[in-house]
Amino acid sequence: MSSMLSVRNVEKSFGGIHAVDGCSLEVEEKTIVGVIGPNGAGKTTLFNMVSGFKKPDCGTIVFKGKDIEDLASFEIARQGLIRTFQISKALTKISVLENMMLAPQFQHGEKIWNVWLRPKEVKVQEEKNRKRAISLLESFELLRLKDEYAGALSGGQKRLLEIARALMSEPEMLLLDEPFSGVNPTLGMRLLKHIKELRDDCKMTFLIIEHDMPMIMELSDFIYVLNKGKVISSGLPEEVRKDERVLDAYLGGI
Ligand SMILES: Nc1ncnc2c1ncn2[C@@H]1O[C@H](COP(=O)(O)OP(=O)(O)OP(=O)(O)O)[C@@H](O)[C@H]1O
Ligand SMILES: [Mg+2]
Repeated sequence: MSSMLSVRNVEKSFGGIHAVDGCSLEVEEKTIVGVIGPNGAGKTTLFNMVSGFKKPDCGTIVFKGKDIEDLASFEIARQGLIRTFQISKALTKISVLENMMLAPQFQHGEKIWNVWLRPKEVKVQEEKNRKRAISLLESFELLRLKDEYAGALSGGQKRLLEIARALMSEPEMLLLDEPFSGVNPTLGMRLLKHIKELRDDCKMTFLIIEHDMPMIMELSDFIYVLNKGKVISSGLPEEVRKDERVLDAYLGGI
């Protein structure tokens, strides 16, 4: 196994707040890595830097052997690294299926001249996308809602739509920011199973922020614990669970 993602000594401050304060972590290919930590620990800020939505003040981020810390988010997405957001970004005024169809990057139809120059290819690609969208919606139990406005979905369903949409572009690595938040327990169990299948059958790699401890412990191959912008513990779920520093960090926040 080799590292798909290496974050090395990354820092990010907002005014006087050291949101991420010298953070390093490794994500091996085809694994699920959990990131936990109390509110304000710097988890989302870390994701923002890895996915190109914020530039680190210093440090390096290497994805598949290439430095990506200076790349824009769309360039990082093009390399195969896609993220979802803590607050779902589904487009509320269009349908669930349209949300899915808008997702694939660099589809042929995107460039207007392709419609004139290569209409057949555009049609074939669209049909392929549609099939993929339908099959993903089915596996996330959203197919019956395909014609509803995304804005009409529950919080949990919007979250699932966002994950399904991220999968449209067949990423190699997915960053999920609190995927289980607001998702009911039955769908949560399905999502957990689905993520494991994507790792095992589709060779996908995951970095997942989650506050739901039983879920992230069950899901992760390896866990990093952040507090005040630093990694305070890391290891197998059963190791992290026993680490007193982790308990202290959570209790300290109460
Ligand atoms: N754009 C910003 N401007 C100013 N401060 C920010 C900004 N983004 C994050 N912060 C601060 O940085 C710190 C880390 O925030 P971050 O959102 O990364 O934490 P988190 O671990 O994701 O927390 P949560 O579990 O609540 O989502 C917090 O103190 C937060 O207030
Ligand atoms: Mg967060």
